Amino acid sequence: MIGIFDSGIGGLTVVRAIMDKLPDYDIVYFGDTARTPYGNKSGRTVVNYSLQNTEFLLDQGANLIVMACNTASSVATETVQARFNLPIYEVITPAVNQSLKMSKKMAIGIIGTRATISSGVYEEKIHEKVPDARVYSVSCPLLVPLVEEGWLKKPETRMIVKKYLHPLKVRQIDTLILGCTHYPLLKPIIAHKIGKRVSIIDSSMALAEEINHFLAENPQIDQGLSKNGKADFFVSDVTPQFEKTARSVIKQHITLKHVSL
Ligand code: DGL
Repeated sequence: MIGIFDSGIGGLTVVRAIMDKLPDYDIVYFGDTARTPYGNKSGRTVVNYSLQNTEFLLDQGANLIVMACNTASSVATETVQARFNLPIYEVITPAVNQSLKMSKKMAIGIIGTRATISSGVYEEKIHEKVPDARVYSVSCPLLVPLVEEGWLKKPETRMIVKKYLHPLKVRQIDTLILGCTHYPLLKPIIAHKIGKRVSIIDSSMALAEEINHFLAENPQIDQGLSKNGKADFFVSDVTPQFEKTARSVIKQHITLKHVSL
């Protein structure tokens, strides 16, 4: 079973991409809706939450883990990979690889939570491969709560997105990484505000592709994953709003099961 976690429902954008690419594979999802957002918490807290979330998914029978959260990926990858002896995927590397493929001017913008942006992990990974790339990042702490609330098309959301993107617009970036798994839900607004000459990178598809490739090359791991096309969705807090937003992301009727970690 593939286990996927996020701080909330944003990681469902990754679930959707994995379901599209690997429709037979069983999935168990955990969204930590009671403790969201992670993006303004300390690294130590996010590492602890990530370890707990992974343990929960392992208890459910997961044998491959996806950290579908940029915040967790940027601060907890090393610790989680060192603690558990199974494939652990993060969302940052696929986004970086994709951005380097797309960018012609090597002028790349990144938006993400405070924790992700202040970790500097995107810049580091881009500069490892292209040392002279121009990289500009902006933290957007208000966007996760707006998405969790389902404010995907409100004029207030448009205004806030415009304000956050302004410094990137003036730098004339040609590629923008959505460095948070919640942001693909705001893609229409973001694309409109940043302008059509900028390529927008959402790591979910690239990640699903990478997992597909890995499983094809590692049949012993692939054989251990159950394939009945089943998906279970657990969250640490259920509200009608979370369910509504979750269904609109997954594009099918799903039930969120409550669990306390
Ligand atoms: N989806 C998470 C991410 O990718 C949101 C983090 C948060 O909860 O602040 O960073």
